[in-house]
Amino acid sequence: PSVTAVLPAAGIGSRMQADCPKQYLTIGHRSILEHAIDALLRHPRIQRVIVAISLGDQQFEQLPIAADPRVSVTIGGRQRADSVLAGLQLAGDAQWVLVHDAARPCLHADDLARLLAITEHSKVGGILAAPVRDTMKLAEPSLGTISHTIERQELWHALTPQLFPLALLKHCLQRALDEGVTITDEASALEYCGYHPLLVSGRSDNIKVTRPEDLALAAFYLTQLDN
Ligand code: CTP
Ligand code: MG
Repeated sequence: PSVTAVLPAAGIGSRMQADCPKQYLTIGHRSILEHAIDALLRHPRIQRVIVAISLGDQQFEQLPIAADPRVSVTIGGRQRADSVLAGLQLAGDAQWVLVHDAARPCLHADDLARLLAITEHSKVGGILAAPVRDTMKLAEPSLGTISHTIERQELWHALTPQLFPLALLKHCLQRALDEGVTITDEASALEYCGYHPLLVSGRSDNIKVTRPEDLALAAFYLTQLDN
């Protein structure tokens, strides 16, 4: 069955401190957002990509990919969850929806394929995630000292894409928003509602471009992509 993707791209990229929202910065010949959309459209099951942009955005319509018939656009909102929900409103009667950060240009085809393959047999969906590498410390509140070491085997970096049944994701995001809970990924909304999405091991080079130093790193990782 086909899968609809939603890309929240309505953020301003304040930590990036660039002249434009970070998803429009160029790496190689294309913007970060185009790299992200393209990685999704290469998968045969992804037939539709809905991009949520900010009100007044004039850059999206300039991108060549905006003319692709598989790509639609909507207006996002104040929080990421608002932007994702706006995208989901256009998803019609899709069964499964894949949410991917506009600021993650380095997604490998094999990670996407594995997420789809493993998660489609589940009821609540799942996310790409990377095992933590460093030794992790919990701080004593405001003291600047170590409380204790957290067992690293149990810690994962949450990545995107994240794949969920459309109706379930809508319900959980709406509830989190209505109850004033701030969430930074879609899985958090499901967790808030008591669900336990799958963790699917993914590559750690699928970075979210967040700070200025991430640009050179993403540019390098993109040269390593075999697509
Ligand atoms: N996003 C969105 N709508 C918002 C906030 C964020 O669609 N109201 C999107 C961003 O465009 C980005 C993704 O969510 O693709 C991940 O968010 P983040 O990395 O935090 O991006 P920004 O919010 O743009 O950056 P910053 O937090 O540094 O301002
Ligand atoms: Mg943000």
